[in-house]
Amino acid sequence: MTSHMWFATLTVAVLCFGLTQRKKPKLHAKIMTLGILMDLGLVLKLQIQRDAVGAAISHSYGLLQYLHFSTSGLASLLYFPVLYLGYKNLKALGTPHPELRLRHVKVAGIAITLRLLGFLFMFSMIGNLKGGT
Ligand code: HEM
Repeated sequence: MTSHMWFATLTVAVLCFGLTQRKKPKLHAKIMTLGILMDLGLVLKLQIQRDAVGAAISHSYGLLQYLHFSTSGLASLLYFPVLYLGYKNLKALGTPHPELRLRHVKVAGIAITLRLLGFLFMFSMIGNLKGGT
């Protein structure tokens, strides 16, 4: 495993822990924001240092590796509406907001599912990295 893979493992652990705290919305919001920022930071670092998107396009990989790129990439894009809806829910705490809450749960549910799939597919990258660690 590379250092990036260890960091991704830590990030997923933070996100899973934050999910277990969903009944404590303020704590949940802080932990999930931390996990999302760690994840986006990793994506940015991989893009700047290794041109991750360019490498995914220009090299030929197998199905599992492409599934890793697509699920992880989609999860990263969904993080932005998740943050937006999460903070809207945070602001609305104390007032009834069932629709807003449901929208957050739906979008965040898709994002975390994609992220967990991307994490599992990440292990297919071991031994398949093109261009170093
Ligand atoms: C992928 C990331 C996330 C997932 C999977 C997720 C999931 C959830 C779930 C399932 C609930 C419902 C809790 C319940 O059963 O009552 C919830 C509630 C909540 N989440 Fe998240 N969340 C995520 C990210 C965030 C972020 C980034 C924020 C804030 C910035 C946030 C703020 C909240 C708040 C305030 C509530 C309480 C809503 C309410 O009951 O009014 N979440 N989240």
